[in-house]
Amino acid sequence: MGKIAKNEDFLFNQVYDYVLNRIECKEWNEHDKLPSIRQLALELNINRLTVLKAYQLLKKHNKIYVKDKVGYFVQSKETVPPEYSDHSIVSAYVQKSSLSEIHQSQVDYNFSQALIDPNLLPNHYLSDYVKKVFDLYPKILATYSNVQGDKELRDALAHYFIKRYKTVLDADNLLILSGSQQGIHLIAQTFIKPRDTVLFERPSYSAAIDIFRARGAKILTVDITPDGYDLDEVEQYMKRYKPRLFYLNPTFHNPTGYTVPAAQRKELVRLAEQYRCLLLEDDAYHDIYFEKKPPAPIYTFDTSGTVIYLRSFCKYISPGLRVAAMICQSSIMKSLISVKALTDNGSPLLNQKIFLHYFSSPRLQQHIDKLRIALQVRKEIMEEELNHTNWQWNSPDGGLNLWVQLPNDQSTEVLLTKSMAYSISFVPGPVCDPLKTLSSWMRLSYSYTNENQLREGLKKLIHAAK
Ligand SMILES: Cc1ncc(COP(=O)(O)O)c(C=O)c1O
Repeated sequence: MGKIAKNEDFLFNQVYDYVLNRIECKEWNEHDKLPSIRQLALELNINRLTVLKAYQLLKKHNKIYVKDKVGYFVQSKETVPPEYSDHSIVSAYVQKSSLSEIHQSQVDYNFSQALIDPNLLPNHYLSDYVKKVFDLYPKILATYSNVQGDKELRDALAHYFIKRYKTVLDADNLLILSGSQQGIHLIAQTFIKPRDTVLFERPSYSAAIDIFRARGAKILTVDITPDGYDLDEVEQYMKRYKPRLFYLNPTFHNPTGYTVPAAQRKELVRLAEQYRCLLLEDDAYHDIYFEKKPPAPIYTFDTSGTVIYLRSFCKYISPGLRVAAMICQSSIMKSLISVKALTDNGSPLLNQKIFLHYFSSPRLQQHIDKLRIALQVRKEIMEEELNHTNWQWNSPDGGLNLWVQLPNDQSTEVLLTKSMAYSISFVPGPVCDPLKTLSSWMRLSYSYTNENQLREGLKKLIHAAK
């Protein structure tokens, strides 16, 4: 099966390149009609679907266009902004503003992924727990998980949150998710109708923007700064526009790395209660601090069930296990369980058990302690290199990214085009901006590439910017 898929992938890429080469060598000119799918499939002796897939991707990358019932034609260069036209990854990104397009590019210096270098993750220990889990639960693959999540795992997490934050909760307030992104999606599906207003930080986590947009929400933004939010503005918005929900990532925020101060957290809960706005607190980076622990999560100030708390464990334990948890009050939980049941009928039990046994072991703490040091070193290396420029950023106390501004309104989208030629990727500001501007900003992740590559890649990036 794997072999066939690989073979198909290979053919599909070949067809894509075959057509693109002919266009680039001007064998096929602008507005020329391409061979029909049937013709090309016959000519190359391959499946028509493979040709169709390649044509669709070429269309997406603005290399060809389709005329209904007539066929496919070579796209003219004028329809693509000239500075983006020479790199398919960048042109696809410009059309869709989609982060996944950037991540798909294979580069030597990857500053676009807010992911931790696999060499810093506990892969080796996790494989021990895989074995342990099969010994303890030999029939584990023969059953589903409870939709809300494995009870043993929910008990362990409830115990952890109570001990750590002295909050009142039990296993019934916890929903286990396949990644926190699933949590954002479930909330959007459950609570947001088209034309509801959703408040967002600006900038924000791009997938969350896309999820709420896809739900038809009207998006309103408040700036996040190193000092948090302008709470007067937040109050004005809540009063005037009555947002259904405020999506926030207040601790080592993606993409800026900023942390909302403790004093604002309590006040936010008060405002949200007063104006009946749900707070969706996304806390994917809480444990990735360098020196000092961040303030307690906003949900710990909540006594009336206004805050829905999302905690991912994917980033620093295992992105592949896709384990995250949501904490919320019981009436919200009921609706979410119904939607989760329709979505996947519960997250994979095997993943939950592997996670549980690793999470409950002392190895986790040892791993995080080492990881914090390694990430801080990488952040400092990135900053050392950037100190040779006149670019601006605020040094974060945790998280995976620097949020950097180029001087004189220079465009980071143009810089991305140039940097791709040096095999460097990063995320241009507009991707993280609900208003799609912030064009002189970019997110540089220091967590994925190793120390040597960081130095080397940054030197090249700075050179490209010149
Ligand atoms: C703020 C934020 N929330 C959620 C996620 C998604 O995390 P998960 O892997 O748990 O779905 C990310 C990943 O980049 C993120 O940055």
